[in-house]
Formats: sequence, structure tokens, C-alpha cells
Amino acid sequence: MTQIILVGFMGAGKTTVGAQLALALNTYQRDLDQVIEQQLGESIGSFFAREGEPAFRLFETKMLRENAALDVILSTGGGIVMQAQNRDILKQSGAPVIYLKTQPEAILQRLRGNLDRPLLNQLDRESFLDLWQYREPLYQAVADFTIVTDKLTPTEITEQIINQL
Ligand code: S3P
Repeated sequence: MTQIILVGFMGAGKTTVGAQLALALNTYQRDLDQVIEQQLGESIGSFFAREGEPAFRLFETKMLRENAALDVILSTGGGIVMQAQNRDILKQSGAPVIYLKTQPEAILQRLRGNLDRPLLNQLDRESFLDLWQYREPLYQAVADFTIVTDKLTPTEITEQIINQL
């Protein structure tokens, strides 16, 4: 089995690449957003709308703590690096943490009109760019290595990760 954690902004391809990595390495993927939705029994969007972001972040940390050391490919939500304690959990997980870095323009293009991203939908363009800039060094701080994904297909990203393991 192989333990890997994927981090990066929403729309970076963490879930798609995680699934391909799991296939290639003959292991399982666990998508933290999906785990959260299963545990909550509702979508992140509706939980966010009713309870607000701080409640979501608390629950996300609890789920990260429970899943970070599992022997799986763990895809995380884009905001996972916002909390200092999450960054500590990621660093102490024992897994290589891989940052899928995608430029903001590419993210905006990919996610335009996507209603499943509550945070994205409440940000105008400038606030989105500010959030990207704010998070960028936080992803770098937890990552063992970074893959710039803008011009790569999920299959190419998967190959690059496997080559660097
Ligand atoms: C979030 C990203 C989402 C999800 C939640 C908040 C964020 O995950 O965890 O909507 O703060 O960037 P994805 O990165 O999988 O879209």
C-alpha cells in the first residue's frame, strides 16, 4: 500500500488525480470532501449555507485528524491548509504531501458556473485572486513537492507523481 496526500486549490484536479493514482498504485483513494459529506449526511454546500464556514472548518479538521495517517491516497479540500493545526496534522502524517498547483485563471475557467463550490460562488474575481495568493505559500509550506498542473492532463500528473515518489 502507498500513503499519499494531495493538496491544492479547488479545481486543481485532486479528486481525479487521486483516483488515477489509486488505480496505478493498486490502492484506495479517500476523498476528504466525500468523507465529510457522508458523515454529515448532506452536501458541503448545504452545510456551509446553514452552519457557516467556521463550523465546516471544525468538522474538516476532525475528519482530517481521523484520516491523515491512513494507508490510502487522500485527496483534501482546497481550504485544508487554512488552519495551522491542519498544517501540523499534514506534516506529521508520515505521507508525502503533494501540492497540485494550478494558476488562478485556469481554475476560474475550469470551475465557471460550478454550483458545488460554496466558497467560490461567494467571491468576486479580486477576492478569489487574493485567496489564491494567500493560500499559495501555505500549500508550499506543507508540500514535499509541487506539480504545476495547468498544462498537464490528469494522466500526465499521475505519471509525474509516480516518478517522484
Ligand atoms: C473548499 C474547497 C472544497 C470544499 C469546500 C471548501 C475551499 O473542496 O472542501 O467547498 O475552501 O477551497 P475542493 O478543493 O475539493 O473543491
